Amino acid sequence: MSIAGPLFCVAVGLKPGKRLHPPAALLAFLGILRLLSAQTITCPQSCECSSPGNRVIVKCLSQNLTDVPKDIPPSVKILFVTGNFIQELRSNSFPEPLDQLVNLNFSSNRITSIDPQVFAKMPNLKVLDLSHNQILTFSPEAFSANNSVRELNLSSAMANSSVMPDLYALLQNGSLANLVSLDLSDNQLSFLPGDTFSGLVNLKSLDLRNNSLVSLRKDTFRNLSLHQLDLRSNALKTLCNSTLHSLDTQPDIQVQLLDNSWICDCNIEDFVAWLRRTDIVVDGTSLSCAFPDPLRRIPLVNVDLSQVDCNYEDMKRVLQTSYVFLGIVLALIGVIFLLVLYLNRKGIKKWLYNIRDACRDHMEGYHYRYEINTDPRLTNLSLNSDV
Ligand SMILES: *[C@@H]1O[C@H](CO)[C@@H](O)[C@H](O)[C@H]1NC(C)=O
Ligand SMILES: *[C@@H]1O[C@H](CO)[C@@H](O)[C@H](O)[C@H]1NC(C)=O
Ligand SMILES: *[C@@H]1O[C@H](CO)[C@@H](O)[C@H](O)[C@H]1NC(C)=O
Ligand SMILES: *[C@@H]1O[C@H](CO)[C@@H](O)[C@H](O)[C@H]1NC(C)=O
Ligand SMILES: *[C@@H]1O[C@H](CO)[C@@H](O)[C@H](O)[C@H]1NC(C)=O
Ligand SMILES: *[C@@H]1O[C@H](CO)[C@@H](O)[C@H](O)[C@H]1NC(C)=O
Ligand SMILES: *[C@@H]1O[C@H](CO)[C@@H](O)[C@H](O)[C@H]1NC(C)=O
Ligand SMILES: *[C@@H]1O[C@H](CO)[C@@H](O)[C@H](O)[C@H]1NC(C)=O
Ligand SMILES: *[C@@H]1O[C@H](CO)[C@@H](O)[C@H](O)[C@H]1NC(C)=O
Repeated sequence: MSIAGPLFCVAVGLKPGKRLHPPAALLAFLGILRLLSAQTITCPQSCECSSPGNRVIVKCLSQNLTDVPKDIPPSVKILFVTGNFIQELRSNSFPEPLDQLVNLNFSSNRITSIDPQVFAKMPNLKVLDLSHNQILTFSPEAFSANNSVRELNLSSAMANSSVMPDLYALLQNGSLANLVSLDLSDNQLSFLPGDTFSGLVNLKSLDLRNNSLVSLRKDTFRNLSLHQLDLRSNALKTLCNSTLHSLDTQPDIQVQLLDNSWICDCNIEDFVAWLRRTDIVVDGTSLSCAFPDPLRRIPLVNVDLSQVDCNYEDMKRVLQTSYVFLGIVLALIGVIFLLVLYLNRKGIKKWLYNIRDACRDHMEGYHYRYEINTDPRLTNLSLNSDV
C-alpha cells in the first residue's frame, strides 16, 4: 500500500490557468518533491496510513494483532495500535528509530510486560497511551534518560499489585522529568510510597481516581506544583495536617475529593477546619461523612466538631468493659463450682471411699490369683493329680 492522498490534494490545490510567481512555483515544486519522497512510504499490513498536512499517521485499529506491526514507516508521527491482542513490548519491538513519532497509542491491548529501552528510540514522543492493559512488569529503563514524554496514560493499565514496585521505580527513576500529565486512574492502587512523584518535577495533572487509597503520606505530593489532583473514588478516611500543608504549598492546585470514606471521628477535626477555610477543593462542600452511622451523609463542612467522638477510644472502652464483664462471669462460675463442692463434701467423700474400696477389691483379686499361680506346691499338686 502507498500514499497517494497528499499528491492528489496538492494537484487539486493548483488551479489550472492560474499563473504562479517564481518563488511560489519553486515552493510548490519542492513540496511536490517532498510528497513524492513521502510516497515511497510502505504501510504495514493490516494498518491504514495517511498523511494529512504532511503528518504521517498509521492506524492499526482492532486488527487482532498479537505483535507490534513490522515495517512501521520511520517518518510516522502518530501511531495507533489500539484494540488488539498485543502481549509484550520487547526491546526489539521497534527496531528502527522513530524520530518523528509524537503520539503512540497502545490502548486496549493485552500488554503484560514492557521491556527496557522499548521507547528509547523515540526522542520526540510526547503522548503515550497505555490505558486498558494488564501490565505485570514495566521496566524502569523503558524510556531513554532524555525522553520528551509529556502525557502518560496508565488508566486501568496494571494487572494487579505485583506491578506496583515496577511502577514506583519507573516514576522515581527521574527519566520522566518532562511529564506534565499522568493518569493512574482505575488501578486498585492501595498505597503510594513517600516521594512516589518527587521525580516528576513538571507534573501538572495527576489522576488517581478510582483506586483504593486509604491514606496519603505527608511526602506523597511534596515538591510538586500540581494544577489538577483527582482523588475521587478512593477509600480515604481523613487527611492529616502534613498532607494538607503539602497541598497548601502548591500555588495553583485544584483538588477533587468526592466519594471517599471520610470517618467523622475526632481525627477529622483538622481536615474539616481546613476544608472550611480553603478554596482549593473543588467539591469541598459535597464531601460527607461515611461513618459513623448517626453522621452518615452529613456534609463534612457542617459537622459539629464538638459532637465528633473518638471511635477508637469508644471501642477501647467497650472492649475494656467487656473484659471486666467476662472476668466477673468467670469468677462467679468458679465460686458456684466451689460452693457445689463444699455442699456435697460428704457425698464426695463417700464416693471417693467407694472408689478406693472398689480399687482395693480389684487389686486384691489380682494379688490372690498371682499367689495361686506362683505357689509351687499348688503347681505340683496339679501336675501329680492325674497320676
Ligand atoms: C478478529 O477475530 C474475530 C474473532 O476471531 C473475527 O470475528 C474478526 O473478523 C477478526 N477481525 C479481523 C480484522 O481480522
Ligand atoms: C488512544 O486510543 C483510544 C481508543 O482508540 C482513544 O480513546 C484515546 O483517546 C487515544 N488516546 C490518545 C492520547 O489519543
Ligand atoms: C533510569 O532510567 C535510565 C534510562 O533508561 C537508566 O539508564 C537507569 O538505569 C534507570 N535507573 C534505575 C534506578 O532504574
Ligand atoms: C538526548 O537527546 C539528544 C537529541 O534530542 C541526543 O542527541 C542525545 O544523544 C541524547 N542523550 C542521551 C543521553 O540519550
Ligand atoms: C486515559 O485513558 C482513559 C481510557 O482510555 C481515558 O478515559 C482518559 O480520559 C485518558 N486520560 C487522559 C488524561 O487523557
Ligand atoms: C498477579 O497476576 C499474576 C498473573 O496473573 C500472578 O502470577 C500473580 O500472582 C498476581 N499477583 C497478585 C499479588 O495477585
Ligand atoms: C474502577 O476501577 C476498576 C478497576 O480497578 C474498574 O473495574 C471499574 O470499572 C472502575 N469504575 C469506574 C466507575 O470507572
Ligand atoms: C523537597 O522538599 C523538601 C522539604 O520541603 C526539601 O528539603 C527538598 O530540598 C526538596 N527537594 C527538591 C528536589 O526540591
Ligand atoms: C493542625 O494544624 C492546625 C492549624 O494549623 C492546628 O491548630 C492543629 O493543632 C494541628 N493538628 C495537629 C494534630 O498537629
